Amino acid sequence: MSGESGPTPVAVRPARPDEFAAIDALLGAAYAHDYGPDDSAGDPFRAAAVRAGAYDVWVAEGRDGSLLGSVTTRRPGGPPLHEDVAPDELDLRLLGVAPAARRRGVGAALMRDIAARAAGTGFHAVVLKTGPEMRGAHRLYDALGYERRPERDGLWIAGEQRLDLFTYALPLASLAEAPLTDAAAARGVLGSFPTGVVALAAADGDGAPPAALTIQSFVSLSVSPPRVLLTVGTGSTSWPRIAATGSFAATVLGEGQGPLARRLARPGAPNKLGGIPTVRSPRRGHPVIAGGSSWFECAIREEFDGGDHRIVVADVEASGLLGGADRPLLFARSRFGGFAPAS
Ligand SMILES: Cc1cc2nc3c(=O)[nH]c(=O)nc-3n(C[C@H](O)[C@H](O)[C@H](O)COP(=O)(O)O)c2cc1C
Repeated sequence: MSGESGPTPVAVRPARPDEFAAIDALLGAAYAHDYGPDDSAGDPFRAAAVRAGAYDVWVAEGRDGSLLGSVTTRRPGGPPLHEDVAPDELDLRLLGVAPAARRRGVGAALMRDIAARAAGTGFHAVVLKTGPEMRGAHRLYDALGYERRPERDGLWIAGEQRLDLFTYALPLASLAEAPLTDAAAARGVLGSFPTGVVALAAADGDGAPPAALTIQSFVSLSVSPPRVLLTVGTGSTSWPRIAATGSFAATVLGEGQGPLARRLARPGAPNKLGGIPTVRSPRRGHPVIAGGSSWFECAIREEFDGGDHRIVVADVEASGLLGGADRPLLFARSRFGGFAPAS
């Protein structure tokens, strides 16, 4: 395996049986090019057709359909290629790039693809063995973030160390996937994104208590023109009342206003703002909650279907900071908290 530059777009895919002979030739040429005559030519394992019985043989295919590289990896649920590999480790062998395709990122593309697939199939690390003299390959592994693991050096066969091979390992952040069909699990993952907390409120001017609800999906959409974007659940009973007025006040809540946020989130609760100190927004007279971090007076511009939530775009007509500006309320993992600036 030798160095490469100037990446060439390749598609990494499983090898087809009709490509096995071409793979053998490619690997033979690659190893001969870097390490001279190959004394393991008689090793049946050198035949891709043999390896494909128990392992996954991959190819890197160029845009013109030519085979530019190959690598063989452990098959998920299958035996490892090396004796000293743990059950949650994917190991690989026979990584090679056609001599004419060197220095074009083909080896790196193969290795990155293998690591991504390994993480996606529950492996926690990719492990490989390489000859001490294969310095070009070592540079590639270093560049890809592999760790040199001298304590695991050696090629072991039937419990005996047969060769002084170097061991490299790439720890994989194995992705614990939350089933999307499980709403609670999906909300758990979505809830890991910390947000501020906003109270939307609107007085519809007929003397009824103002409508209000708590949201966290509130973002600055545009500075010029000043617009915000928010999403409201299709089941909300307060939003239709707010939307009917065509405008609203949004108060970014301050630290300590978690209980208030919970109160405003009670579905259909009457007079949610009863007894809560508010001031009227300058143009439309909607309630802005005292003690918050900042306020916005907005006119609803457009609503879009977003699934179980409506996406709302609103024009900001007026806004300002409030006393609690430096200490906004945050919400993450279903808990309220405060903002602690990094020292
Ligand atoms: C911290 C927090 C964040 C929330 N974020 C949203 C949100 O972004 N969009 C939304 O529609 N509801 C959100 N809710 C839920 C609404 O507040 C709740 O469904 C709503 O208040 C229901 O009351 P209603 O029927 O009177 O509208 C959130 C609730 C809490 C406690």
